[in-house]
Amino acid sequence: MRIGVYPGSFDPATYGHLDIIRRASRLFDKLIVAAMVNGEKRSAFTMEEKVDFLKRMTRDIPNVEVDCFDGLLADYVRDKGACAIVKGLRAVSDFEYEFQMALANKKLNPELDTVFLMTEQKYLFLSSTIVRDIARHGGDIAEFVPDEIRMDIMNKLDQTK
Ligand code: COA
Repeated sequence: MRIGVYPGSFDPATYGHLDIIRRASRLFDKLIVAAMVNGEKRSAFTMEEKVDFLKRMTRDIPNVEVDCFDGLLADYVRDKGACAIVKGLRAVSDFEYEFQMALANKKLNPELDTVFLMTEQKYLFLSSTIVRDIARHGGDIAEFVPDEIRMDIMNKLDQTK
């Protein structure tokens, strides 16, 4: 069975992530979407909330499994018996950072490859930070996150209420 792992901090997950999940799910027998810790970032949502959001928005994709892990991605992928990491590439600015991470992961686990999918054009500008920012100011995030999770994000972040 070909297993892929799509990692991210998903704080929160957005339509941009969902687009990558849908497309990657067609490339693997099983796709594990793994909420992980990015040591450079402070999360607004708890791991439980992130996993719950991801589960709700991927309910209709049968070969997707949602999980979370606090440790090295290369170890996690090895434990899961996965053959590849999936990442979404947005703008040119992502490239250097992604290249560096892919090389580091390959050093840690030489059998591991990273597969990059181009993010759909309409989500090129999107990020979880932008979604949090709009939500905090009571703005409309309907275009950026699925309906299933929108109200929960607003309830947690909207400071104008
Ligand atoms: N559409 C829209 N936005 C997208 C996107 C897409 N397709 N793909 C990514 N983004 C956004 C994310 O929301 C994120 O936004 P933010 O910066 O506002 O949070 C940003 O682009 C960066 O995403 P990504 O590159 O996936 O980083 P991340 O922080 O979400 O995930 C980890 C990074 C968790 C995978 C990485 O830190 C990790 O592997 N941690 C585990 C520890 C480890 O192994 N470290 C060594 C790595 S070599």
